[in-house]
Amino acid sequence: MSLTIGILKETANAEKRVAASADTVKKYTALGANVLIEKGAGINASILDKEYIEAGAKIATTADIVKKSDILLCVQTPTDKSVSLLKKGAILIGALSPHDNHDAMKTWAKSGIIACAMELMPRITRAQSMDILSSQSNLSGYKAVLDATEHYARAFPMMMTAAGTIAPARVFVMGAGVAGLQAIATAKRLGAIVTATDVRPASKEQVESLGGTFVAVEDEEFKQAETAGGYAKQMSAAYQKKQATLVAEHIAKQDIVITTALIPGRDAPILISEDMVKSMKAGSVIIDLAVERGGNCALSEVGKVVEKNGVKIVGHRNVPSRIAADASLLFAKNLFTFVALLIDKETNKLNINWDDEVMQGVALTKDGAVIHAMFAPKKMVKAKTKKAPTKKKTVAKKATAKKKVTGKKTVVKKSPAKKKTTKKKAKS
Ligand code: NAI
Repeated sequence: MSLTIGILKETANAEKRVAASADTVKKYTALGANVLIEKGAGINASILDKEYIEAGAKIATTADIVKKSDILLCVQTPTDKSVSLLKKGAILIGALSPHDNHDAMKTWAKSGIIACAMELMPRITRAQSMDILSSQSNLSGYKAVLDATEHYARAFPMMMTAAGTIAPARVFVMGAGVAGLQAIATAKRLGAIVTATDVRPASKEQVESLGGTFVAVEDEEFKQAETAGGYAKQMSAAYQKKQATLVAEHIAKQDIVITTALIPGRDAPILISEDMVKSMKAGSVIIDLAVERGGNCALSEVGKVVEKNGVKIVGHRNVPSRIAADASLLFAKNLFTFVALLIDKETNKLNINWDDEVMQGVALTKDGAVIHAMFAPKKMVKAKTKKAPTKKKTVAKKATAKKKVTGKKTVVKKSPAKKKTTKKKAKS
């Protein structure tokens, strides 16, 4: 019997993306799978049911899809009870936010399903095409600049007109990872003068290759500030103080600040204090892409645009969903590349290689238990002989609730609002 792959309409609040595109449906059917999709699943991402049907999918009810699916694809964990109806051995694949969904993880284990959290994909070259963090962050970085243009009452490029000269906007990007690099590239395309900072030394060259100017305290600590997985390390209080002083001087001259700084498994570092916001000119705009992880700006609020002394601080939730059509296409392709790994091309049946580091990186539950090295009961992890990828160890650290910011004072932030997972990453 052929495999059945199901796609439901997303249930999470304000989630516009969908886990399959017409293109990936075509690819799944070419692999011999039956594709069942819920009515209107793609409508918010500009994909009509008709396009899915033409690609080979059948429209079905939620209950039918869940009961029949061998593989259920989602963007975010379904908020209704539908997943509990999945059959034993079925595979749930999506951005499952395991750090925030401990109870759900236990339920998935109990129901005997294999839950795969795509945001835990190892950052190895072979897995780049399955990396939802990268594909979604790239678009977040782009959208952040457009969001800034919406709130900024001036132009980005320099314009010399008969009526006078308009000065170019000064854009400062904090965190030059995937989202930050795309923000730099986008702001440059719009004609802004772009500077950027990061704590990873590798980012300096990347910033400069996009035409940005790198601004950072480049001391000995900075030179070591990258994990083997390519992520940022938590910096010392002394470094943060030096960095804050440098940033404070720089920020006062900026029109737009886009923040994207994250450290895996922790609250986002606060890089912009209230005093720094006060130092900015009226009309300036801060776009905080890290807001769902606690925020890089002390004043940002999840889902709100806050105004302080004429400076707007924008804290949109789920930025990839604000560019849902393209975000869905890339997300769907990431999922397809992963699913294709699980299917034997000759028999068209499931054939999972549990020794593959990709599978070990994302699989949360199997055979009635939580099996992921980060979340499994300690005894079970010790018993395992296989070494977990480096990134897991970093992410496993518990989020802290307090953070030092300016060096002058300690800003205490609440735990981040529910992580919406779809972190950001972008490669220009
Ligand atoms: P991220 O989303 O975890 O963090 C965003 C950026 O914030 C990072 O560049 C980080 O260094 C920076 N940051 C953290 N604390 C900071 C602070 N106090 N001040 C300023 N900046 C701070 O990271 P992201 O974007 O997911 O990726 C980081 C890097 O990982 C990429 O640039 C790349 O080198 C690597 N990567 C590798 C991939 C692969 O090999 N498959 C795929 C994607 C990324």
